[in-house]
Amino acid sequence: MFRATIFTLYPDFFPGPLGQSLSGDGLARGLWALETRQIRDHGLGRHKSVDDTPAGGGPGMVIRADVLAASLDAGLGADDARPRLLMSPRGRPLTQSRVRELAHGPGVAIVCGRFEGVDERAIEARGLEEVSIGDYVLSGGELAAMVLLDACVRLIPGVMGKLESGSDESFESGLLEYPHYTRPRDFEGRNIPDVLLSGDHAKIAAWRREQALAITKARRPDLLKRP
Ligand code: ADE
Repeated sequence: MFRATIFTLYPDFFPGPLGQSLSGDGLARGLWALETRQIRDHGLGRHKSVDDTPAGGGPGMVIRADVLAASLDAGLGADDARPRLLMSPRGRPLTQSRVRELAHGPGVAIVCGRFEGVDERAIEARGLEEVSIGDYVLSGGELAAMVLLDACVRLIPGVMGKLESGSDESFESGLLEYPHYTRPRDFEGRNIPDVLLSGDHAKIAAWRREQALAITKARRPDLLKRP
């Protein structure tokens, strides 16, 4: 079973939206599991301190390597083969193909950063893979972890109602998705394209591919250049 262990200073964020809808139903049905670990449980001193000022100066605070490593060591067995991710805007951008890989594996351990960052030595010593969900900065890794988990969990067999509803969508084909229509046929004078009402499945498939290509060219030309 896909198991997620989240290392965070804010365990109350979870399950959050992952407790609703597809992922929430899957969680309730035991198709995947979610566990949180409070990093502060391994904090130092009376105040359970987890961070300190950056060596070399500068703004913000940095999560201590010893505290994070202790939390990881307590939360993960030595034989735990799950990828260890650190959500960070410095990470490699998350892609649908990495999501697919993760979803087919045993699960993930995810560290959610806060403050300015995490001591580099903890990242190295515990083999953390930094992952970004986009070129913008969140106030912490928790929402990013939820995004990653949502993307993975919906691919777990049994979580999504119809198996095929995953294969046609944006990115799975390398293209953005074609436009969708449903009733009514006439909405404020805008009609459903005739081809979709023609019943000619080959023609419909060709039209959809053409639309997907045009939308991808206009919005994400970078996707067309990928190997
Ligand atoms: N933490 C803060 N910003 C982030 C981002 N863009 N992706 C992943 N984790 C983050």
